[in-house]
Amino acid sequence: MFDSPATLAQQESNQFLQDVWQGLSSKQKYLESKYFYDENGDVIFQKIMDCSDYYLTRCEMDILKNKTAELAFPITAPGTPFDLIELGAGDASKTYFLLKHLLKSNADFVYKPIDISGHILDVLEDNLSQQLPNLKVAPCEGDYFQALDRICQTSNRRKIVLFLGSNIGNMQLDESESFCQQMAHHLNPGDFAIVGFDLKKNPKTILKAYDDDEGVTSEFNLNLLHRINRDLDGNFDLKQFEHYQNYDPLTGACRSFLVSLTEQTVTIAGRDFYFAKDEAIYMEVSQKYSPEDIDELAERSGFKTVSHCYDHKKWYMDAIWKVI
Ligand code: AVJ
Repeated sequence: MFDSPATLAQQESNQFLQDVWQGLSSKQKYLESKYFYDENGDVIFQKIMDCSDYYLTRCEMDILKNKTAELAFPITAPGTPFDLIELGAGDASKTYFLLKHLLKSNADFVYKPIDISGHILDVLEDNLSQQLPNLKVAPCEGDYFQALDRICQTSNRRKIVLFLGSNIGNMQLDESESFCQQMAHHLNPGDFAIVGFDLKKNPKTILKAYDDDEGVTSEFNLNLLHRINRDLDGNFDLKQFEHYQNYDPLTGACRSFLVSLTEQTVTIAGRDFYFAKDEAIYMEVSQKYSPEDIDELAERSGFKTVSHCYDHKKWYMDAIWKVI
């Protein structure tokens, strides 16, 4: 009489299908970049981070390695115990330097990495227990704000939230504002957030980071079509789509598209989608900010800017914000 409840995996794949159908039946076709990261996508993203043109990861590593004390000072100054919560922690290879510094200065804290990938959290826990055996780690798998809710319910220590890696860049400007507002709502006055932003700079430098000669970014985008073919019974012909990247210095939006090279119909789980020749699927935005943009974002979402931490080229910023 009743359908058995869908497993989590079924629900997720159903959501994936709904999102793909919705995106491809829109007037301007789009796909959501959060779906880039299947197992293949994780590997290709690693390759992107190793590309000489993709400067972002090295810039933020520069900050975490060489401006560690600057980052740690406002966090440790109150001298009371705290939770260090990281949204989208991944393998924590950058955060490692901050964690090491905090341990050395005898800060009393628990590191609470949040990630949607339980697999990567296992890797993180293994690595950190080897490298920093004295660190207290409490990983949380799941959606950022659901996990943040759980953490707030179970601990009343003050909170520092890390949102690094320019992950905020994947949001449109209005989305990033509501995201930061939501973050502030989960915190108490005096708590901190440290957010990683890629800065506006020479347009050619930015464009090159997403339009590399080796074609790794193209592979990253096309992999989502491959994933749809595999997981949602699609029949994209990957040779009939071409990656196109664009950077607009007026808005700071760096966007990627896949352009249909021919008139074609693609079927996904039994539903047909027509593509005109040269029609583009909007795949991802990687938003760039000026220091002023970042201060304004802080202000509009309930934070006060405490400090700006730059890499030595001033291409990237980890902004330290305090909840008002
Ligand atoms: C993981 C969101 C920081 O936008 O720079 C890299 C993803 N996309 N190359 C970025 C990405 C294409 C990346 N972030």
